Amino acid sequence: MSRGIIAPEFEYQDGTLAVERVSLLELAEEYGTPLYVYSRGHLVRRYTELADAFREADPLICFSVKVNTNRALISTLAEQGAAADVVSGGELTRALQAGIPARRIVFAGVGKTAAEIDLALKEGILFFTVESEGELELVSRRARALGLRARIAPRVNPDVDPQTHRFISTGKLENKFGMDVERVRRLGAQMEQYPAVDLVGLHMHIGSQITTPDPYVLALQRMLPLAAELRGRLSSLEYLDVGGGMGIRYSPTDDELSAARLARAILPLVRESGLRLVIEPGRYIAGNCGLLLTRVLYVKENGARTFVIVDAGMTDLIRPPLYGAYHHILPVREVGEIIIGDVVGPVCETPDFFAAQRSLPAVRPGDLLAVMSAGAYGFVMSSNYNSRCRPAEVMVQGSSHRLVRRRESIADLTRLEL
Ligand SMILES: Cc1ncc(COP(=O)(O)O)c(C=O)c1O
Repeated sequence: MSRGIIAPEFEYQDGTLAVERVSLLELAEEYGTPLYVYSRGHLVRRYTELADAFREADPLICFSVKVNTNRALISTLAEQGAAADVVSGGELTRALQAGIPARRIVFAGVGKTAAEIDLALKEGILFFTVESEGELELVSRRARALGLRARIAPRVNPDVDPQTHRFISTGKLENKFGMDVERVRRLGAQMEQYPAVDLVGLHMHIGSQITTPDPYVLALQRMLPLAAELRGRLSSLEYLDVGGGMGIRYSPTDDELSAARLARAILPLVRESGLRLVIEPGRYIAGNCGLLLTRVLYVKENGARTFVIVDAGMTDLIRPPLYGAYHHILPVREVGEIIIGDVVGPVCETPDFFAAQRSLPAVRPGDLLAVMSAGAYGFVMSSNYNSRCRPAEVMVQGSSHRLVRRRESIADLTRLEL
């Protein structure tokens, strides 16, 4: 088993895995398990890396809050200057509560409701990334009804293959997102029909966990002629939003798409467009800021297989069963002996696993394991299936730590039932 470390904020100190300068043994003792643990230092470092790489373009960096909606994370990023990308009224409210001004929030998603559109209009967000003609009609009607102006950025589906898992590909025409270039061109030519709406940007988001700049470049090359045409026609056009999607390392040997490499590839095209760059990174900033800490309950053999049964399950982190995703798993206390085994949870579903047939530390009941790279699409995708309580979340900063969401209780599970 590789003990390799994915990010410097998560390293062994005196034989025990630590987050910044706090031992995970101490955190398990104080807060219990399963437990999400985030490194504030990692978040700030990743945000800064991005900001530095794109600095010459003075971009609006919209943290995609869908990846992690904990207020402590969003407000940490807001303090660094982050704006936000949201996909629901709930996320919009969370971003506002975390201190991001409405004028620095963009709102994406194929199925915005009238109530969500009203909320965003009243708050005065920067723009809606409009994904269909029907949505434009509704945004226009709601803006007129409220006596407000709406700003929109049609989402272009550039029909490129982002070379990622098919469930996180969003920029091909077979996906439900956005509109093809021709439809956006037509829409741009009809803007006088929508007097309460300003077309202020063009948007794309082609997928997630993308590890090469090539699909971004291809997509931008398809969008630039459209941008030039719309700029000639509409003085309101100001932003070019290239979405998020930058891939990270889930294993110490993985490649990631560095901010610097992406910036080198796309900044010349952004410059050519004459528009202000907007980016919507989620996973890149938060993916490796967090881990899921879990305790071994039992170790059992079934036939030739060894199962390490832990107290976290697919209800806490669903990426392995949902996407077949790899998450590196490290023992909190270094163990010499290695076994081949499966790490599985307590949920009554066969795909409730974190690792299958992997070389693992020969842990015993009571030992702790850290499921790494759980800062993005982790807690936010958790559920109460099997009436399991969601884990607590803790943020570490240097040698201090604080609870940023308490563990759910059984009383929380039944609270809304009538
Ligand atoms: C519109 C939009 N922007 C940004 C993101 C963030 O993607 P990532 O976490 O891959 O950076 C997503 C993810 O689904 C998205 O749908």
